[in-house]
Order: sequence, then C-alpha cells, then structure tokens
Amino acid sequence: MANVAFLGLGVMGSPMAGHLARKGHDVAVFNRTSAKAEAWVAANGGTSAATPREAAIDKKIVFACVGNDDDLRSVVLGEDGAFAGMATGAVFVDHTTASAEVARELSAAADAAGLRFIDAPVSGGQAGAESGALTVMCGGEPAAYAEVEPAILAYAKACRLMGPSGSGQLTKMVNQIAIAGLVQGLSEAIHFGKRAGLDIEAVLDVISKGAAGSWQMDNRGKTMNAEKFDFGFAVEWMRKDLGILLAEGRRNGAHLPVTALVDQFYSDVEAMGGGRWDTSSLIARLER
Ligand SMILES: NC(=O)c1ccc[n+]([C@@H]2O[C@H](COP(=O)([O-])OP(=O)(O)OC[C@H]3O[C@@H](n4cnc5c(N)ncnc54)[C@H](OP(=O)(O)O)[C@@H]3O)[C@@H](O)[C@H]2O)c1
Repeated sequence: MANVAFLGLGVMGSPMAGHLARKGHDVAVFNRTSAKAEAWVAANGGTSAATPREAAIDKKIVFACVGNDDDLRSVVLGEDGAFAGMATGAVFVDHTTASAEVARELSAAADAAGLRFIDAPVSGGQAGAESGALTVMCGGEPAAYAEVEPAILAYAKACRLMGPSGSGQLTKMVNQIAIAGLVQGLSEAIHFGKRAGLDIEAVLDVISKGAAGSWQMDNRGKTMNAEKFDFGFAVEWMRKDLGILLAEGRRNGAHLPVTALVDQFYSDVEAMGGGRWDTSSLIARLER
C-alpha cells in the first residue's frame, strides 16, 4: 500500500479517501475548509495538511476531487499547489468533472515537471462513492494508469483507460449527454401518468422490467413521484457539466439540441430555488 494524498473532501472526495484509508493506504488529506480535513482524520486516521503542496510531498499518488476547472488549477498549480510538492515520477489523479482542455493543460504542466497526470472523472454519485462502487473513466499514459488503477479500485467497481489525456473527461461528457435527455423523458412519463390517474409506483414497477427500464427509473422514479429532491447530484453541478460539454460540442461539431434544451430546463429549476436539488428535479417544472 502506497503513501497517497487526497485533495478535496466534499460529498464525493470524503468517502473515496475513506476507502483508501480502509484499504491500508497512508492518506494525507487537504481540504480548503480545514475543519472538514480535521474531522476526516478523526474518523479515518492519516494526517491533515495545510496546503496541497504539503499533502503531496513524498506521495506516489495524489488524488483530487474538487468542483470545476479553476478549483482544480488552484490545488494543482502555484507555490502551494500539489505539483510543487510532488517528487519526480509521481502521479496526479483528478476525479473532478472538468473540461478536457484543463486535463490536457495540466498533463502538459505535469510532463514539464517530470510528473504524470490522469484525468479520471467518476459516475455513480454519492451512493456509489460511499459504497465504493463508482465507475471511473480515465485519460492519460498507459504506464501511469497501470500504476494507479489498483488504488482506484478501492472505491470503484469499474475503471478503464479510454485514451490519451482528456479522454476520461470526454467519456464523462458522453455519460452526461446520455443522462440529460433520459431524465427529461422520465419526468414527462411520470407527469403524464399522474395526469392519467395511474398508480405511478405500480407503473414504474412494471415498466422498469421492460425496454423503458433505466438506472434513473430504478433509483429516482419513486422520489420523482414523491417530489423529493434534497439529496444526490446537484442541479448546479449538472449545469456546470452541461456547460463544459456544450462548449466541447461547439468545438467538435456534434449536434446536441435536446441536451441544450435540458440545460435551459435546469436553469428554470435553479430559478425555482433548486440549485442544490438532485438532477431528477426536472419533473418539478412540470408538476409545480
Ligand atoms: N456529487 C455527485 O453526485 C457527483 C457525481 C459525479 C461527479 N461529481 C463531481 O465531483 C466533483 C466534486 O463534487 P462533490 O459533490 O464532492 O462537491 P462538493 O461536496 O461541493 O465538494 C467540493 C470539494 O471541492 C473543494 N473546493 C471547491 N473549490 C475549491 C477551491 N477553489 N480550492 C480548493 N478546494 C476547493 C471543496 O472544499 P470546501 O469544503 O472548502 O468547500 C470540497 O472539498 C465535482 O466536479 C462534481 O461535478 C459529483
């Protein structure tokens, strides 16, 4: 088991770092709000560092899971950033959902400093992080990937190298495009069923076993019917992801009309006060 560091102990990072500690890794943590790092150490052991640089010193692997591109740059670059503390050959693994551009930018900076960089966004949400059953999509060099994959499997049920730097983020964009239209379709289906006077739980029970079944139907159908959204993957995070992938689509020429429309629907949910609601709250636009 290696000495590792984990930067960013939010909804996702905290349980992921916890799985690393339980697998026997010696984990140094950094969190911008230091109280969270101290609470994590009290619960999991390891050590808390005052800066990303301090956390990264002498670590074979430095993991991060922060908010967006700029948050990532702020923990990686500069005199207090992780790259300043990492030894030659060490690998930085980024679990933030960010742009493919920032992955390529930081991979080039790592290369120049004698380090390696893997972009590794995740799918599976808070529940997947807590149960150690995330799906991880990676971009980078095969040799660096092979070194970090065993550690990632502490909190993942699937982990795959998709291609060169940025390929993990591009794969996560495909994932989010596939989810966006599906959640709107599921919202319209439940909305229609209610108007038709059907027993929605019975409807979901039967149709989930047929061609309409999906992870969203299994895991969100009941709570959408009950209009419960105070958990899960926040609308404001989804809008960040949609902004990133719509910009990428403008660059690569992909047509994403439904995804762009769903982004606008999510802005309606934000205007309703739902920025922190789960993404299944798309149905609230139809029901309220
Ligand atoms: N939640 C999900 O279901 C889910 C699923 C898949 C992917 N993701 C992605 O995973 C990433 C993290 O999500 P999350 O739900 O864990 O978010 P979160 O609970 O809001 O945690 C964000 C973490 O990033 C830190 N951070 C933010 N800005 C920073 C900055 N400028 N400098 C240093 N640290 C900073 C925060 O520190 P503080 O504690 O100081 O605020 C916190 O530790 C996001 O990219 C998200 O899109 C989330």
